[in-house]
Amino acid sequence: MSIFTIDEVRKTFTNGEVKEEILKGVNLSLQEGEVTALTGASGSGKSTLLTIAAGLQSASDGQVIFEGENLTAMKPEHVRKIRAGKFGFVFQFAHLVTFLTVEEQLLLMLDVSGSKLNKQERKREIDKMLKLVEMDHRKTAYPTSLSGGEKQRVAIARAIIHQPKILFADEPTASLDSKRSKDVMALIRDLTRKLNIAALVVTHDEEMLSFADKIIKMSDGQIVQKI
Ligand SMILES: Nc1ncnc2c1ncn2[C@@H]1O[C@H](COP(=O)(O)OP(=O)(O)OP(=O)(O)O)[C@@H](O)[C@H]1O
Ligand SMILES: [Mg+2]
Repeated sequence: MSIFTIDEVRKTFTNGEVKEEILKGVNLSLQEGEVTALTGASGSGKSTLLTIAAGLQSASDGQVIFEGENLTAMKPEHVRKIRAGKFGFVFQFAHLVTFLTVEEQLLLMLDVSGSKLNKQERKREIDKMLKLVEMDHRKTAYPTSLSGGEKQRVAIARAIIHQPKILFADEPTASLDSKRSKDVMALIRDLTRKLNIAALVVTHDEEMLSFADKIIKMSDGQIVQKI
């Protein structure tokens, strides 16, 4: 059974008198331990779909089923709790907090997610995670002293420190050069497998698709190809 299913999701925006259907009945499912890439032209609806999947905005119709529960029918407070505790996020830019060190970024995320770990366990988890993304040697560094690729590695560690079930990434490599992009995608793929996370990664970079287990192509609000 899939851990995450999107069923006939539609999204309509109204601009004045004009109604526009941006998602036209989208279906997909995510499996644990797999990276699913979501690709397609600019404006095809990738980010809209990802934000609906993550409960960041509501669908106009359809269902988003996570662990057997329908996110689209839940109270906002319940969705917020699932998002903080069970989902992880990576975006185009790392969005690190400028006045926190690398390890403090991760500590903050543990707080936000409502982690039950004590101080010592938190430190151990953070050290382990920073080793996994090969940033343990910079744990007391501030973001301004990190390269773009290093910042993104910290952002990935922060996205999964609380052991989420689903990782949502919207163009995680768009601000990086080709070599660093491949490193970041390889890292996402490796961590997804190792930690048994289901990842949904939006990218319009063809080169990144080789790191995906499944590829879903969107065009004009619809899925046109599943590989
Ligand atoms: N809040 C909104 N109100 C009205 N239209 C919107 C809104 N959000 C998105 N859209 C429109 O929906 C369409 C899909 O947008 P979306 O951001 O999902 O595309 P995308 O595939 O992620 O594109 P890109 O590759 O450029 O990031 C676009 O035409 C966009 O203008
Ligand atoms: Mg987008």
